[in-house]
Amino acid sequence: MSGENPVALVIFGASGDLTRRKLVPALWSLFSDGLLPTPFVVIGMARTPLSEEDFRKRMEEGVRRFSRHSISSPETWSTFIRNFHYLHADYGDPEAYRKLREELEKLDQTWKTRGIRIFYMATPPDPFPTVAENLHGAGLCRDRDRTRVVVEKPFGRDLESAKALNRLLASYFRESQIYRIDHYLGKETVQNIMALRFANAIFEPIWDRRYVDHVQITVAESEGVGHRARYYDKAGALRDMVQNHLLQVLCLIAMEPPVTLQGEEVRNKRVEVLRAIRPIPKDRVQEFAARGQYGAGWIEGKRVPAYREEEGVDPQSNTETFAALKLFIDNWRWQGVPFYLRTGKRLPARASEVSIIFRPAPHQPFPRSASLNWKFNRLAVRIQPEEGIVLRFLAKEPGQLYRLRPAEMRFTYRESFGPLQIPEAYETLLLDVIHGDPTLFMRADQVEAAWEVVMPVLEVWSEVPPPDFPNYPAGGWGPEEAETLIARDGRSWLTPTVLEEALRRSP
Ligand code: BG6
Repeated sequence: MSGENPVALVIFGASGDLTRRKLVPALWSLFSDGLLPTPFVVIGMARTPLSEEDFRKRMEEGVRRFSRHSISSPETWSTFIRNFHYLHADYGDPEAYRKLREELEKLDQTWKTRGIRIFYMATPPDPFPTVAENLHGAGLCRDRDRTRVVVEKPFGRDLESAKALNRLLASYFRESQIYRIDHYLGKETVQNIMALRFANAIFEPIWDRRYVDHVQITVAESEGVGHRARYYDKAGALRDMVQNHLLQVLCLIAMEPPVTLQGEEVRNKRVEVLRAIRPIPKDRVQEFAARGQYGAGWIEGKRVPAYREEEGVDPQSNTETFAALKLFIDNWRWQGVPFYLRTGKRLPARASEVSIIFRPAPHQPFPRSASLNWKFNRLAVRIQPEEGIVLRFLAKEPGQLYRLRPAEMRFTYRESFGPLQIPEAYETLLLDVIHGDPTLFMRADQVEAAWEVVMPVLEVWSEVPPPDFPNYPAGGWGPEEAETLIARDGRSWLTPTVLEEALRRSP
């Protein structure tokens, strides 16, 4: 893309997994699609001693494995990677930041203009404050119009620490310079929730308490904790997934229609939802929340170890790998409609889906026998995999008897747009940072409002150790408590439609 400002992207934590698996593969896709501005320079900074050559090799390996674009020719690859540099440094060493400033100034001189500078915190959270202080110390935060800072999750580990981090960032940067990542907001299918609701006239009139019985949001992962135990064992599912990804999906499902997608409008609408969520009373947490930890079990025919046996996990760990919540939104639209959220590791499959369950038709004129296979109308938004939307409704089974049977209409990205068309969340988000569009990022007040929602649960869970961990086998749908949570209301968790289909297909 020509005619744009040159960009220097500085990645702190450049030797880590996020850079190799997500950031650089996303940059490569943007480059392959001609969307990356030129010139575009990446300076990776990290504590691991690596030569520039090794750093580039590592990035190439990451792109080959994780990018949706393959490397078409060595020449194109070399045009891309020759702009990648590596700075081995300690995050607390002011000398490193002086060097960084020199490099950035040299770039500006070569470009004969001041480029956009993006500082990306891809490290674990501990070094954030040190990096921010040192950037400030080296005078790298002065140009407020051209400097942006990207902060990865987790954003704090509770409300207090999130507030402290917001205060710290606010002392060096304006809010408009800060991009707090929640990569779910960058997913095409999550963005499509707004298109579904607000580009069509047929859904919005029934999108409220008069027609919706309840909403379920499931983010299921079949993977275990992997190599991330050091972080995850201190976080758990509520902090890792619910406080951010699931609540943001809920915001898009529940928000009021924005007047425009510009400026702060959408972020304002999202935060209004969080503020309207009814606080969970600490003395009734068990009615609104359930937690679980996986034991050993079987996934896709393979025996997998219990969470407590995973590498790097405390063998007595009480960290939850599954969390479910029931939430109410106290406003006109959603009064009395429960939103059930659940997420977990080592569940039977990777499947993220939002289901809107509609109330039954007010009157059934059919004979009793017609309704033997009766089911609620269900609109399932498939976030991943097999991205798309499925609408379940009842139809008359062909024949002389009047029998109703669930049927469905479906939209899949693959059929409508082809598989390569779905950009990775990080592609969208990186491009937005480059263009200075913060809509898909979390504002300070949003992060804090999201922490407020989960705080009572976090507090009670940390005060009262779980009596029965591990309480679900790997490959199961979570603990019995999660079933009880929803069964108490006369409802049950729905199997994601992707899995129902897989079951129907299997012999
Ligand atoms: C991350 C969590 O934010 O999201 C991980 O830290 C989780 O624990 C991941 O596995 C899930 O992301 P996705 O895009 O694979 O659904």
